[in-house]
Amino acid sequence: MESVKIVLLTGGSSGIGAATARVLAEAGMTVYAASRRGTVETPAPGIIPASLDVNDASQTEALVKRIVETEGRIDAVVCNAGNGIYGPVEGTTDAEARYQFETCYFGSLKTIQACLPVFRKQGFGRIITITSVMAILQLPFQGFYSSAKAALLALSESLSMELKGSGIECCSILPGDVRTGFTAARRFNAAAQDPDSPYKARMEKNLRKIEKDERDGMAPEVIAKAIRRQLERRHMAVRIIPRLDYGAVGFLVRILPERPKLRLLNRIYA
Ligand SMILES: NC(=O)c1ccc[n+]([C@@H]2O[C@H](COP(=O)([O-])OP(=O)(O)OC[C@H]3O[C@@H](n4cnc5c(N)ncnc54)[C@H](OP(=O)(O)O)[C@@H]3O)[C@@H](O)[C@H]2O)c1
Repeated sequence: MESVKIVLLTGGSSGIGAATARVLAEAGMTVYAASRRGTVETPAPGIIPASLDVNDASQTEALVKRIVETEGRIDAVVCNAGNGIYGPVEGTTDAEARYQFETCYFGSLKTIQACLPVFRKQGFGRIITITSVMAILQLPFQGFYSSAKAALLALSESLSMELKGSGIECCSILPGDVRTGFTAARRFNAAAQDPDSPYKARMEKNLRKIEKDERDGMAPEVIAKAIRRQLERRHMAVRIIPRLDYGAVGFLVRILPERPKLRLLNRIYA
């Protein structure tokens, strides 16, 4: 069985990415931890920081080329770079919606496409996308984040079928709430900041809840270890929801009829 040794990880400068770089390096892998900052939280043997904006395909292609020239191969890519925008669908501009899809969906797509020729040549490759439970559980005022993550999940699962027999496998990891810099980095669109918004009171309630849930969320290492477990398996699972409680939520989402499910979520979140 081939084992994963060389990993390209996007969004390696903080949160889930920084924890993943540490956990994979401790497991003996060499991790190119790429981000716009190009830094890592805790430098360690096996972690190589790299500068990368996933929205610039030429930078991604150059980094993939550099890794192959240096290491001779890339065994796995972890598409983790992401961000969140907040606000109601009504009044969100085209540019704001596209901004959300740019990094979370197209950034991951470009990263995967840059790695695929390398994986195909090797007859081996592992593709992990970090999506979110919000890919399957849509919440109010985060419609664009939910849709970008749902699109990425769908892409991962379509691709996993296309790659059958190639030695290349895809797995999407759907974290629930995680304590990271994500909460502070969240952008509020113009409609979210409108003092006369008809959604003002419900957005305030919603924001208090989601920010508290994120602050009280799991440590990023939980997700990092789930990533490591998948990379160490002979065959990866197609979809993973880390932690039993979030797994149970995922199960409920699948079995509950749509109308009562949305009514319940709306009561809790808005
Ligand atoms: N925290 C949660 O509750 C949660 C839940 C479910 C899913 N997720 C997902 O987990 C992933 C990691 O988020 P996190 O929670 O760890 O948040 P975070 O601490 O804010 O980390 C986001 C990472 O993405 C990088 N990044 C953002 N834009 C980038 C770009 N254009 N090019 C390259 N790197 C970029 C950031 O680095 P630079 O700023 O240096 O570029 C940073 O390293 C995201 O995809 C997020 O959607 C998070």
